[in-house]
Amino acid sequence: MGNSTDVCGTTPEYEKAQQRSLNDPEGFWSEVGSELEWTKPWDRVLDDSNAPFTKWWVGGEMSVCYNAVDRHVVNGRGEQFALVHDSPLTDTARKISYNELKDQVSRLAGKLTTLGVSKGARVLIYMPLVPEAIIAMLATNRIGAIHSVVFGGFAARELRTRIEHAEPTVIIAASCGVEPNKIVRYKDILDEALCQSSHQPRSCIIYQRRRVLECPLEIGRDISWDEGLEADPVPCESVEANEPLYILYTSGTTDAPKGVQRPCGHAATLCWSMKKVYGLQRGVWWAASDLGWVVGHSYICYGPLLAGMTSVLYEGKPDRTPDPGQYFRIIEQHRVNALFTIPTAFRVLKRADPNAKYARRYCQKSLKTVFIAGEHCDQDTRQWAERVFGVPVLNHWWQTESGSPITAPCLGYGVKSVPPYSAGYPVAGYDIRTLREDGMECKPGEVGRLVAKLPLPPGFASTLWRSDERFKKIYFEAYPGYYDTQDAGWISLDGAVWVVARADDVINVAGHRLSTAALEDVVLRHTRVADAVVVGAPDPTKGDVPLCLYVMRPPQDDEEIVAESTVTQELIALVRHLIGPIAAFRKAVAVPALPRTRSGKALRGAIAKLARSQSVKIPSTIEDPSVFGDIKLALQKFGYATDAPDPEF
Ligand code: COA
Ligand code: AMP
Repeated sequence: MGNSTDVCGTTPEYEKAQQRSLNDPEGFWSEVGSELEWTKPWDRVLDDSNAPFTKWWVGGEMSVCYNAVDRHVVNGRGEQFALVHDSPLTDTARKISYNELKDQVSRLAGKLTTLGVSKGARVLIYMPLVPEAIIAMLATNRIGAIHSVVFGGFAARELRTRIEHAEPTVIIAASCGVEPNKIVRYKDILDEALCQSSHQPRSCIIYQRRRVLECPLEIGRDISWDEGLEADPVPCESVEANEPLYILYTSGTTDAPKGVQRPCGHAATLCWSMKKVYGLQRGVWWAASDLGWVVGHSYICYGPLLAGMTSVLYEGKPDRTPDPGQYFRIIEQHRVNALFTIPTAFRVLKRADPNAKYARRYCQKSLKTVFIAGEHCDQDTRQWAERVFGVPVLNHWWQTESGSPITAPCLGYGVKSVPPYSAGYPVAGYDIRTLREDGMECKPGEVGRLVAKLPLPPGFASTLWRSDERFKKIYFEAYPGYYDTQDAGWISLDGAVWVVARADDVINVAGHRLSTAALEDVVLRHTRVADAVVVGAPDPTKGDVPLCLYVMRPPQDDEEIVAESTVTQELIALVRHLIGPIAAFRKAVAVPALPRTRSGKALRGAIAKLARSQSVKIPSTIEDPSVFGDIKLALQKFGYATDAPDPEF
């Protein structure tokens, strides 16, 4: 049972808009759609005849790129800065105006056309956080093609899986990325992925980061970014609102990545959200994320550009590139009006500079609001951040699937605060409920499964790439008539929403979503491992980190005996190699056996609870309850389960 604080934070304006979005969706979204310039008006606002494949602004045609770039130039704002790239890691800072953006995007789009990219074709983008990545996304969209951006922290195998699934005509990559302790050789990782891939692109366009690392190009396949920009510019191609804008892969409960498909009409929702959710009309916006994640797609690239704002790209860490003053320096130097980040960033800053010595060196007058999302934020960290940044720190909730907030404060409707710990109120179009396992609705304050009543608002994932059936099965089967968010939470009497935890086997590491099944799959490849489970264990900085318990296979016949420490080190290396460093996989320990039910299901939830020293109720279906004794000892090696009561039936 949650602690239902009946703080009524909404406003009549919010309530009116919310009710209208649910009771008169056609009227509400028709006004939102008008935020964009369309080349062909829509025939119908809503077509829900084939739920859950709901269509919005049906028959309407427009170009997202035109709305994000060209129209600002046409409206006389070409000199305004569209992008600011601040990179302490490469010691550079660059500003790009809407005029320059249009020029480069339209030329690269021209090159893509000559390379055979046409409407509906895919372009895979594998780049660090540089403006060129945004130029690549917009150029793809300019000609009606579909981009798929892959995060740089993934290893070659993960990149290959995405290449094989999306089958891009062209891949756009950079020579390298820069991390504080290393240069990440993107081009080498791409070559390795392509070497093993069953799909080959026609061409690769390579952006050389000459100040850092220049890589050799493969004759006949690779062309340089500079050559790409020599092409003749091309105009924007309009596409129908429900055609795909992009595919973004995210983790699910199985090893296979899910390619979330986003419709182009999403652009209208994003543009509207900048005003109504974030309360901004113009100015400088900074989403401290990466383009490889949904936050980067929606709020580094599309949202701020569609709203004609300046978007800051920060290539660095909060605490050590070179010091914990960077967030504050950027706010002062680029006159940032609103910052969007994850609680992990604040925990890192708080640890490095608890008394905010660095913060005091900079003026933060321009800053009006900080938004956080992606993971739970403890009140201590939030209050510390409010003190240090001197502005409200507002929590909101969303997912890769939603593409924009599901719940939020909604500043544009006058809702400027949210009850403590909550993620705010449902955003227009979202009818959020909590359900019990039997599908009955929970009472206010009762924790249940967070679901959204259909239809889902425009901008939500239209399907999974080439997997309509999987889309239906994963999200819409468990609770007919609802979208299953796979998050657990509760709702107060006045409608504020609290997100408690993921209800599936996905863990959240520094705001990054990871599948425990994918990690287990890699661990089980090790020849000396007979069984394994991976759970999320608490971490003071990253929220959760993966923790692996594995069972060693006894040596056979003439096999050498291998020490547990050797296997553990090999497992850590294997996960880095096959999934990538972003998995932050550093904790693995051998145990004699794992708790499993008689049908073979691993009791991951029980292990995760034990690690948190919470009481565990053993299900009657367990095969061998005695294994918990050794599990507890293993967890204690990492400082977990120190006060854990012994699990009981
Ligand atoms: N390309 C290649 N490798 C990357 C990468 C990228 N874009 N981003 C991270 N990595 C690597 C890191 O170098 C690190 O490798 P290592 O194990 O060899 O050191 C590993 O992936 C883990 O990275 P990260 O999660 O960033 O951990 P960290 O300890 O280096 O930094 C934070 C932790 C909190 C500082 C960092 O996650 C951060 O800045 N987060 C705030 C903003 C954010 O990223 N938001 C995204 C979600 S919306
Ligand atoms: P992703 O799809 O990677 O953006 O991750 C989405 C998941 O992050 C959600 O399903 C939640 O589990 C978690 N999440 C996002 N925002 C919040 C929040 N404000 N509070 C708690 N968890 C959140």
